[in-house]
Amino acid sequence: MKPVLEVKNLTKIYSNRKVVDNVSFSLFAGQIFGFVGPNGAGKSTTIRMITGLTTASEGAVRICGYNINYNFKKAIENIGAVVEMPQLYPYLSGLNNLKLYASFYGNKAKSRINQIVKLVGMENRIKDKVSTYSLGMKQRLGIAQALLNKPSLLILDEPTNGLDPNGIVEIRNILRALADKEHIAIIISSHNLAELELVCDVIALINNGKLIEYRTMADINKLVESKQRVQFICNYPNYAAMLLKQKFKLPSKVVGNSVICPLKEEHLATVISFLTYKKIKIYGIKKIHKTLEELYFELLNSSRPSSSIL
Ligand SMILES: Nc1ncnc2c1ncn2[C@@H]1O[C@H](COP(=O)(O)OP(=O)(O)OP(=O)(O)O)[C@@H](O)[C@H]1O
Ligand SMILES: [Mg+2]
Repeated sequence: MKPVLEVKNLTKIYSNRKVVDNVSFSLFAGQIFGFVGPNGAGKSTTIRMITGLTTASEGAVRICGYNINYNFKKAIENIGAVVEMPQLYPYLSGLNNLKLYASFYGNKAKSRINQIVKLVGMENRIKDKVSTYSLGMKQRLGIAQALLNKPSLLILDEPTNGLDPNGIVEIRNILRALADKEHIAIIISSHNLAELELVCDVIALINNGKLIEYRTMADINKLVESKQRVQFICNYPNYAAMLLKQKFKLPSKVVGNSVICPLKEEHLATVISFLTYKKIKIYGIKKIHKTLEELYFELLNSSRPSSSIL
């Protein structure tokens, strides 16, 4: 399968500073790609280069095989994008906004309007003026607008910025449906990793312009699993900690009336039997997972350019 988007060694230099530094990745049909990083990391600049809004200093972007700089018209035909706030006319209805934009693309786009309105779940309010819409509805209309030319690649820069939890869930469901049913490849940028991990297939971390990690969600879940720790609430936590170290070489930490150690699922039964055999009473067992957010901060704080934390 050919990638919908290929980004190769992409670099942007502003006043001698590399704000995007040698970024490469590929994205396939039906995949949702989360682009995450702190303020100023280079997310929007990368997105602007992908959409041709700014030219790359070095490297290349190909959309469905077409280079965004040398074959702009063909490449851009395959992209739908909402970069920050969607551009909408507030005194027109949602429907008239869509009709206006569709007129730029021709009759095919016009005939898709009803289907798109359904896809973004706006049937009930589409005839109301945009000035009466909530932020979430405006975002949905923005996505509808970006879908008019039947793009293979949908690009959303901070699509849930300012939305309440309900609005965030709605957008997430719409995006998942677009990827699964319409096989659209989607890039979403966000600061909010907890939100991205619920919808993305691939997550890339960018910091100081460099792509510092790029992993599938399946790999990330495996990694989070492998870093699982177990907390035993028991009567003699100090003694338990000593036993765990002696017998299993497990580094443990005593916290109140409990002992915490890294422990894989398959070794849990053996450890419980051993502690019980040593007359330790276990009152409770809790599995502790590092959140993806915690792994992410460890990674960003790590000074090594390519760390193995995530
Ligand atoms: N037109 C420009 N001229 C000079 N510097 C720029 C320009 N656009 C962006 N930058 C700089 O490039 C860096 C990356 O900015 P960018 O907007 O891509 O970050 P971001 O990851 O999208 O951040 P945010 O999360 O705040 O949206 C920043 O240091 C920014 O100041
Ligand atoms: Mg940005």
